[in-house]
Amino acid sequence: RTSELSLASLELGPYSHFMQKEINEQPRAVSDTAEIFLDGGFIAENFGEQAAQIFAEINSIKILACGTSYYAALTGKYWLESIAKIRCDVEIASEYRYREVIADPKELIITISQSGETLDTMEALKYAMTQGHQYSLSICNVMESALPRNSTLAIFTRAGAEIGVASTKAFTTQLVVLFGLAVTLGIVRGQVDDERADGYAEDLRLLPGSIQHALNLEPQLATWAQSFANKPSALFLGRGIHYPIALEGALKLKELTYIHAEAYPAGELKHGPLALVDENMPVVVISPNDGLLDKVKANMQEVSARGGELFVLSDLDSDFTASDGIHVIRTPRHIGILSPIVHTIAVQLLSYHVALVRGTDVDKPRNLAKSVTVE
Ligand code: G6P
Repeated sequence: RTSELSLASLELGPYSHFMQKEINEQPRAVSDTAEIFLDGGFIAENFGEQAAQIFAEINSIKILACGTSYYAALTGKYWLESIAKIRCDVEIASEYRYREVIADPKELIITISQSGETLDTMEALKYAMTQGHQYSLSICNVMESALPRNSTLAIFTRAGAEIGVASTKAFTTQLVVLFGLAVTLGIVRGQVDDERADGYAEDLRLLPGSIQHALNLEPQLATWAQSFANKPSALFLGRGIHYPIALEGALKLKELTYIHAEAYPAGELKHGPLALVDENMPVVVISPNDGLLDKVKANMQEVSARGGELFVLSDLDSDFTASDGIHVIRTPRHIGILSPIVHTIAVQLLSYHVALVRGTDVDKPRNLAKSVTVE
Protein backbone atom coordinates (compact mmCIF):
# COMPACT_ATOMS: atom_id res chain seq x y z
CA ARG A 1 0.00 0.00 0.00
CA THR A 2 2.82 2.37 0.87
CA SER A 3 4.58 1.72 -2.41
CA GLU A 4 1.32 2.27 -4.31
CA LEU A 5 0.83 5.61 -2.63
CA SER A 6 4.33 6.81 -3.27
CA LEU A 7 4.09 5.73 -6.90
CA ALA A 8 0.87 7.76 -7.18
CA SER A 9 2.50 10.84 -5.66
CA LEU A 10 5.48 10.46 -8.00
CA GLU A 11 3.24 10.28 -11.02
CA LEU A 12 1.31 13.31 -9.84
CA GLY A 13 4.44 15.45 -9.88
CA PRO A 14 3.53 19.00 -8.86
CA TYR A 15 -0.24 18.37 -9.11
CA SER A 16 -2.78 17.64 -6.38
CA HIS A 17 -5.03 15.40 -8.46
CA PHE A 18 -4.78 13.26 -11.56
CA MET A 19 -7.58 15.27 -13.08
CA GLN A 20 -5.60 18.48 -12.61
CA LYS A 21 -2.53 16.83 -14.14
CA GLU A 22 -4.57 15.48 -17.05
CA ILE A 23 -6.21 18.85 -17.74
CA ASN A 24 -2.76 20.42 -17.88
CA GLU A 25 -1.38 17.68 -20.13
CA GLN A 26 -3.77 18.62 -22.90
CA PRO A 27 -1.44 20.81 -24.98
CA ARG A 28 0.93 17.82 -25.17
CA ALA A 29 -1.80 15.18 -25.63
CA VAL A 30 -3.51 17.18 -28.36
CA SER A 31 -0.26 17.96 -30.15
CA ASP A 32 0.80 14.27 -30.10
CA THR A 33 -2.61 13.24 -31.44
CA ALA A 34 -2.54 15.93 -34.13
CA GLU A 35 0.78 14.41 -35.31
CA ILE A 36 -1.19 11.39 -36.58
CA PHE A 37 -2.58 13.70 -39.26
CA LEU A 38 0.21 16.26 -39.63
CA ASP A 39 2.94 13.70 -40.16
CA GLY A 40 2.88 13.22 -43.93
CA GLY A 41 -0.51 14.88 -44.43
CA PHE A 42 -3.96 13.45 -43.80
CA ILE A 43 -3.23 9.89 -44.96
CA ALA A 44 -6.10 7.39 -44.87
CA GLU A 45 -3.79 4.34 -44.95
CA ASN A 46 -2.53 5.25 -41.47
CA PHE A 47 -5.76 3.77 -40.11
CA GLY A 48 -5.61 0.44 -41.93
CA GLU A 49 -4.82 -0.89 -45.40
CA GLN A 50 -8.41 -0.79 -46.52
CA ALA A 51 -9.09 2.69 -45.18
CA ALA A 52 -8.90 4.71 -48.42
CA GLN A 53 -11.13 2.23 -50.25
CA ILE A 54 -13.67 2.16 -47.41
CA PHE A 55 -13.67 5.96 -47.08
CA ALA A 56 -14.39 6.29 -50.80
CA GLU A 57 -17.09 3.64 -50.80
CA ILE A 58 -19.27 4.59 -47.81
CA ASN A 59 -22.31 6.79 -48.10
CA SER A 60 -22.88 7.66 -44.44
CA ILE A 61 -21.52 7.27 -40.92
CA LYS A 62 -23.07 6.19 -37.64
CA ILE A 63 -21.18 6.86 -34.41
CA LEU A 64 -21.91 4.79 -31.29
CA ALA A 65 -20.55 5.73 -27.87
CA CYS A 66 -21.34 6.33 -24.18
CA GLY A 67 -20.74 9.14 -21.70
CA THR A 68 -18.19 11.77 -22.58
CA SER A 69 -17.25 9.83 -25.72
CA TYR A 70 -20.84 10.31 -26.91
CA TYR A 71 -20.43 14.08 -26.60
CA ALA A 72 -17.25 13.84 -28.66
CA ALA A 73 -19.34 12.05 -31.28
CA LEU A 74 -21.95 14.83 -31.28
CA THR A 75 -19.20 17.38 -31.90
CA GLY A 76 -17.60 15.22 -34.59
CA LYS A 77 -20.86 15.08 -36.53
CA TYR A 78 -20.55 18.81 -37.29
CA TRP A 79 -17.06 18.39 -38.72
CA LEU A 80 -17.87 15.22 -40.67
CA GLU A 81 -20.89 16.83 -42.30
CA SER A 82 -19.39 20.28 -42.92
CA ILE A 83 -15.87 19.25 -43.99
CA ALA A 84 -16.27 15.78 -45.54
CA LYS A 85 -19.90 16.39 -46.59
CA ILE A 86 -20.94 12.96 -45.43
CA ARG A 87 -24.14 12.30 -43.51
CA CYS A 88 -23.49 11.33 -39.90
CA ASP A 89 -25.82 10.03 -37.19
CA VAL A 90 -24.81 9.71 -33.57
CA GLU A 91 -26.37 7.31 -31.11
CA ILE A 92 -25.96 6.28 -27.49
CA ALA A 93 -24.66 2.71 -27.61
CA SER A 94 -27.00 1.37 -24.90
CA GLU A 95 -30.01 2.63 -26.87
CA TYR A 96 -28.88 1.46 -30.30
CA ARG A 97 -28.18 -2.11 -29.21
CA TYR A 98 -31.77 -2.68 -28.10
CA ARG A 99 -33.77 -1.33 -30.98
CA GLU A 100 -34.62 -2.47 -34.45
CA VAL A 101 -32.25 -0.82 -36.86
CA ILE A 102 -32.09 -0.43 -40.59
CA ALA A 103 -28.58 -1.52 -41.42
CA ASP A 104 -26.75 -0.29 -44.48
CA PRO A 105 -23.59 -2.07 -45.64
CA LYS A 106 -22.34 1.26 -47.00
CA GLU A 107 -22.68 3.01 -43.66
CA LEU A 108 -19.43 3.11 -41.67
CA ILE A 109 -19.91 2.32 -37.97
CA ILE A 110 -17.57 4.36 -35.78
CA THR A 111 -17.20 3.59 -32.09
CA ILE A 112 -15.55 6.07 -29.73
CA SER A 113 -14.23 4.87 -26.39
CA GLN A 114 -11.39 5.93 -24.13
CA SER A 115 -11.04 2.46 -22.57
CA GLY A 116 -12.01 0.36 -25.57
CA GLU A 117 -13.83 -1.93 -23.12
CA THR A 118 -17.21 -0.28 -22.46
CA LEU A 119 -19.67 -3.15 -22.62
CA ASP A 120 -22.57 -1.24 -24.17
CA THR A 121 -20.36 0.16 -26.95
CA MET A 122 -18.87 -3.27 -27.65
CA GLU A 123 -22.31 -4.89 -27.77
CA ALA A 124 -23.65 -2.10 -29.99
CA LEU A 125 -20.78 -2.72 -32.43
CA LYS A 126 -21.47 -6.48 -32.49
CA TYR A 127 -25.16 -5.81 -33.02
CA ALA A 128 -24.47 -3.44 -35.93
CA MET A 129 -22.31 -6.08 -37.58
CA THR A 130 -24.93 -8.83 -37.20
CA GLN A 131 -27.53 -6.52 -38.73
CA GLY A 132 -25.60 -6.17 -41.98
CA HIS A 133 -23.06 -3.39 -41.59
CA GLN A 134 -19.72 -4.19 -43.18
CA TYR A 135 -17.15 -1.71 -41.94
CA SER A 136 -16.22 -0.36 -38.56
CA LEU A 137 -13.69 2.09 -37.21
CA SER A 138 -12.65 2.37 -33.57
CA ILE A 139 -11.40 5.63 -32.04
CA CYS A 140 -9.75 4.49 -28.84
CA ASN A 141 -7.11 5.44 -26.28
CA VAL A 142 -6.05 1.92 -25.22
CA MET A 143 -4.11 -0.12 -27.77
CA GLU A 144 -4.80 -3.70 -26.68
CA SER A 145 -8.51 -3.32 -26.03
CA ALA A 146 -11.67 -4.99 -27.29
CA LEU A 147 -13.13 -2.31 -29.56
CA PRO A 148 -10.12 -1.71 -31.87
CA ARG A 149 -9.46 -5.47 -31.87
CA ASN A 150 -12.94 -6.08 -33.23
CA SER A 151 -13.04 -3.25 -35.77
CA THR A 152 -11.98 -3.06 -39.41
CA LEU A 153 -10.02 0.16 -38.84
CA ALA A 154 -8.62 1.91 -35.77
CA ILE A 155 -7.28 5.32 -34.84
CA PHE A 156 -5.62 5.65 -31.44
CA THR A 157 -5.75 8.88 -29.49
CA ARG A 158 -2.42 9.72 -27.92
CA ALA A 159 -3.72 10.99 -24.60
CA GLY A 160 -1.65 8.56 -22.52
CA ALA A 161 -3.13 6.80 -19.51
CA GLU A 162 -6.10 8.66 -18.06
CA ILE A 163 -6.55 7.99 -14.34
CA GLY A 164 -9.19 10.54 -13.30
CA VAL A 165 -12.63 8.94 -13.62
CA ALA A 166 -14.06 12.05 -15.27
CA SER A 167 -12.61 12.14 -18.77
CA THR A 168 -10.60 15.22 -19.85
CA LYS A 169 -7.62 14.68 -22.15
CA ALA A 170 -9.24 11.58 -23.68
CA PHE A 171 -12.17 13.76 -24.77
CA THR A 172 -10.10 16.54 -26.36
CA THR A 173 -7.89 14.02 -28.18
CA GLN A 174 -11.01 12.23 -29.45
CA LEU A 175 -12.09 15.58 -30.87
CA VAL A 176 -8.74 16.00 -32.61
CA VAL A 177 -9.13 12.57 -34.20
CA LEU A 178 -12.67 13.32 -35.36
CA PHE A 179 -11.53 16.57 -36.93
CA GLY A 180 -8.54 14.89 -38.61
CA LEU A 181 -10.78 12.07 -39.79
CA ALA A 182 -13.23 14.56 -41.31
CA VAL A 183 -10.41 16.20 -43.26
CA THR A 184 -8.99 12.82 -44.35
CA LEU A 185 -12.40 11.66 -45.54
CA GLY A 186 -12.92 15.00 -47.26
CA ILE A 187 -9.67 14.55 -49.21
CA VAL A 188 -10.44 10.96 -50.24
CA ARG A 189 -13.95 11.98 -51.32
CA GLY A 190 -12.83 15.04 -53.28
CA GLN A 191 -14.41 17.56 -50.91
CA VAL A 192 -11.19 19.06 -49.56
CA ASP A 193 -8.52 20.37 -51.94
CA ASP A 194 -4.83 20.87 -51.08
CA GLU A 195 -5.25 24.48 -50.08
CA ARG A 196 -8.04 23.74 -47.63
CA ALA A 197 -6.14 20.74 -46.26
CA ASP A 198 -3.17 23.06 -45.60
CA GLY A 199 -5.49 25.45 -43.76
CA TYR A 200 -6.85 22.64 -41.57
CA ALA A 201 -3.29 21.47 -40.86
CA GLU A 202 -2.45 24.99 -39.73
CA ASP A 203 -5.52 25.01 -37.46
CA LEU A 204 -4.22 21.81 -35.84
CA ARG A 205 -0.73 23.26 -35.42
CA LEU A 206 -2.07 26.34 -33.63
CA LEU A 207 -4.36 24.34 -31.35
CA PRO A 208 -1.93 23.41 -28.51
CA GLY A 209 -1.03 27.10 -28.10
CA SER A 210 -4.70 28.08 -27.91
CA ILE A 211 -5.28 25.36 -25.31
CA GLN A 212 -2.41 26.79 -23.28
CA HIS A 213 -4.09 30.21 -23.44
CA ALA A 214 -7.29 28.64 -22.11
CA LEU A 215 -5.34 26.95 -19.29
CA ASN A 216 -4.01 30.37 -18.34
CA LEU A 217 -7.60 31.45 -17.56
CA GLU A 218 -7.59 29.18 -14.51
CA PRO A 219 -7.42 31.95 -11.85
CA GLN A 220 -10.53 33.63 -13.29
CA LEU A 221 -12.39 30.31 -13.50
CA ALA A 222 -11.43 29.56 -9.88
CA THR A 223 -13.08 32.86 -8.91
CA TRP A 224 -16.24 31.87 -10.76
CA ALA A 225 -16.27 28.54 -8.92
CA GLN A 226 -17.14 30.36 -5.68
CA SER A 227 -20.48 31.40 -7.21
CA PHE A 228 -21.40 27.79 -8.10
CA ALA A 229 -20.29 25.91 -5.02
CA ASN A 230 -23.39 26.59 -2.90
CA LYS A 231 -25.98 26.45 -5.68
CA PRO A 232 -28.35 23.48 -6.10
CA SER A 233 -28.21 23.49 -9.89
CA ALA A 234 -26.69 25.09 -12.97
CA LEU A 235 -27.63 25.45 -16.61
CA PHE A 236 -25.21 25.28 -19.55
CA LEU A 237 -26.15 26.79 -22.91
CA GLY A 238 -24.51 26.61 -26.31
CA ARG A 239 -25.53 26.63 -29.95
CA GLY A 240 -24.31 24.73 -32.99
CA ILE A 241 -20.97 23.01 -32.52
CA HIS A 242 -20.72 24.44 -29.00
CA TYR A 243 -23.91 22.75 -27.82
CA PRO A 244 -22.11 19.40 -27.25
CA ILE A 245 -19.53 21.32 -25.21
CA ALA A 246 -22.35 22.68 -23.05
CA LEU A 247 -23.45 19.05 -22.55
CA GLU A 248 -19.91 18.07 -21.60
CA GLY A 249 -19.69 21.04 -19.20
CA ALA A 250 -22.90 19.99 -17.44
CA LEU A 251 -21.69 16.38 -17.23
CA LYS A 252 -18.36 17.44 -15.71
CA LEU A 253 -20.15 19.56 -13.09
CA LYS A 254 -22.47 16.66 -12.16
CA GLU A 255 -19.69 14.09 -12.00
CA LEU A 256 -17.25 16.18 -9.99
CA THR A 257 -19.43 18.29 -7.70
CA TYR A 258 -22.78 16.45 -7.46
CA ILE A 259 -24.52 19.70 -8.38
CA HIS A 260 -27.45 19.12 -10.68
CA ALA A 261 -26.60 20.51 -14.09
CA GLU A 262 -28.34 20.48 -17.43
CA ALA A 263 -27.37 21.61 -20.88
CA TYR A 264 -29.65 23.01 -23.54
CA PRO A 265 -29.19 24.31 -27.02
CA ALA A 266 -29.73 28.02 -26.28
CA GLY A 267 -32.60 28.25 -28.79
CA GLU A 268 -34.61 25.78 -26.69
CA LEU A 269 -34.50 28.00 -23.62
CA LYS A 270 -37.95 29.42 -24.25
CA HIS A 271 -39.46 25.95 -24.64
CA GLY A 272 -39.08 25.00 -20.99
CA PRO A 273 -35.86 25.64 -19.09
CA LEU A 274 -36.52 29.39 -18.89
CA ALA A 275 -39.07 28.51 -16.20
CA LEU A 276 -36.18 27.37 -13.97
CA VAL A 277 -34.19 30.57 -14.24
CA ASP A 278 -33.83 32.67 -11.10
CA GLU A 279 -30.96 34.19 -9.13
CA ASN A 280 -30.17 30.77 -7.62
CA MET A 281 -29.30 29.03 -10.85
CA PRO A 282 -26.07 30.15 -12.52
CA VAL A 283 -26.26 29.97 -16.31
CA VAL A 284 -23.05 29.19 -18.20
CA VAL A 285 -23.11 30.31 -21.83
CA ILE A 286 -20.52 29.08 -24.32
CA SER A 287 -20.58 31.68 -27.01
CA PRO A 288 -17.51 32.40 -29.10
CA ASN A 289 -17.70 34.72 -32.03
CA ASP A 290 -19.08 32.25 -34.54
CA GLY A 291 -22.03 32.74 -36.87
CA LEU A 292 -24.51 32.23 -34.03
CA LEU A 293 -23.24 34.92 -31.66
CA ASP A 294 -26.15 37.32 -32.18
CA LYS A 295 -28.65 34.54 -31.59
CA VAL A 296 -26.91 33.58 -28.35
CA LYS A 297 -26.90 37.20 -27.22
CA ALA A 298 -30.67 37.32 -27.64
CA ASN A 299 -30.96 34.13 -25.55
CA MET A 300 -28.80 35.72 -22.86
CA GLN A 301 -31.15 38.67 -22.64
CA GLU A 302 -33.98 36.23 -21.95
CA VAL A 303 -32.00 34.96 -18.95
CA SER A 304 -31.01 38.42 -17.67
CA ALA A 305 -34.60 39.65 -17.87
CA ARG A 306 -35.58 36.88 -15.39
CA GLY A 307 -32.87 37.81 -12.90
CA GLY A 308 -30.54 34.93 -13.94
CA GLU A 309 -26.80 35.30 -13.41
CA LEU A 310 -24.80 34.71 -16.58
CA PHE A 311 -21.29 33.26 -16.81
CA VAL A 312 -20.17 33.78 -20.38
CA LEU A 313 -17.25 31.89 -21.95
CA SER A 314 -16.32 33.72 -25.07
CA ASP A 315 -13.42 35.13 -27.08
CA LEU A 316 -11.89 38.51 -27.58
CA ASP A 317 -13.61 39.10 -30.92
CA SER A 318 -17.10 38.91 -29.47
CA ASP A 319 -17.26 42.29 -27.67
CA PHE A 320 -19.00 41.06 -24.52
CA THR A 321 -18.69 43.36 -21.56
CA ALA A 322 -19.21 42.33 -18.01
CA SER A 323 -21.97 44.14 -16.15
CA ASP A 324 -24.31 43.50 -13.26
CA GLY A 325 -25.21 39.82 -13.33
CA ILE A 326 -23.02 39.13 -16.39
CA HIS A 327 -19.55 37.68 -15.88
CA VAL A 328 -17.32 37.24 -18.91
CA ILE A 329 -14.14 35.22 -19.48
CA ARG A 330 -12.54 35.46 -22.88
CA THR A 331 -9.98 33.38 -24.72
CA PRO A 332 -7.40 35.62 -26.42
CA ARG A 333 -8.82 35.20 -29.91
CA HIS A 334 -11.45 33.29 -31.86
CA ILE A 335 -10.04 29.87 -32.71
CA GLY A 336 -12.29 29.14 -35.66
CA ILE A 337 -13.35 25.62 -36.44
CA LEU A 338 -11.50 24.05 -33.49
CA SER A 339 -13.05 26.40 -30.95
CA PRO A 340 -15.07 23.60 -29.22
CA ILE A 341 -11.80 22.00 -28.10
CA VAL A 342 -10.54 25.23 -26.55
CA HIS A 343 -13.81 25.97 -24.77
CA THR A 344 -13.80 22.46 -23.30
CA ILE A 345 -10.73 23.39 -21.24
CA ALA A 346 -12.66 26.20 -19.55
CA VAL A 347 -15.61 24.00 -18.52
CA GLN A 348 -13.20 21.34 -17.20
CA LEU A 349 -11.36 23.90 -15.06
CA LEU A 350 -14.61 25.39 -13.79
CA SER A 351 -15.91 22.02 -12.55
CA TYR A 352 -12.52 21.14 -11.09
CA HIS A 353 -12.50 24.31 -9.01
CA VAL A 354 -16.12 23.95 -7.90
CA ALA A 355 -15.18 20.44 -6.70
CA LEU A 356 -12.22 21.85 -4.76
CA VAL A 357 -14.48 24.37 -3.00
CA ARG A 358 -17.02 21.65 -2.18
CA GLY A 359 -14.34 19.16 -1.11
CA THR A 360 -15.55 16.28 -3.26
CA ASP A 361 -13.34 13.42 -4.44
CA VAL A 362 -12.07 14.84 -7.72
CA ASP A 363 -10.38 11.74 -9.10
CA LYS A 364 -12.96 9.22 -7.92
CA PRO A 365 -16.46 10.68 -7.85
CA ARG A 366 -18.93 8.68 -5.79
CA ASN A 367 -20.88 5.90 -7.57
CA LEU A 368 -18.86 6.15 -10.81
CA ALA A 369 -16.28 3.90 -12.47
CA LYS A 370 -13.60 4.69 -15.01
CA SER A 371 -14.59 1.89 -17.29
CA VAL A 372 -18.01 0.27 -17.28
CA THR A 373 -17.69 -3.34 -18.39
CA VAL A 374 -21.06 -4.48 -17.04
CA GLU A 375 -24.57 -3.54 -18.05
C1 G6P B 1 -17.60 5.89 -17.75
C2 G6P B 1 -16.60 7.00 -17.45
C3 G6P B 1 -16.79 8.16 -18.39
C4 G6P B 1 -16.73 7.71 -19.83
C5 G6P B 1 -17.71 6.57 -20.11
C6 G6P B 1 -17.46 5.93 -21.46
O1 G6P B 1 -18.88 6.33 -17.42
O2 G6P B 1 -16.73 7.40 -16.09
O3 G6P B 1 -15.78 9.13 -18.16
O4 G6P B 1 -17.00 8.78 -20.69
O5 G6P B 1 -17.55 5.53 -19.14
O6 G6P B 1 -16.20 5.31 -21.42
P1 G6P B 1 -15.32 4.98 -22.68
O7 G6P B 1 -14.09 4.29 -22.10
O8 G6P B 1 -16.13 4.05 -23.54
O9 G6P B 1 -14.99 6.25 -23.36
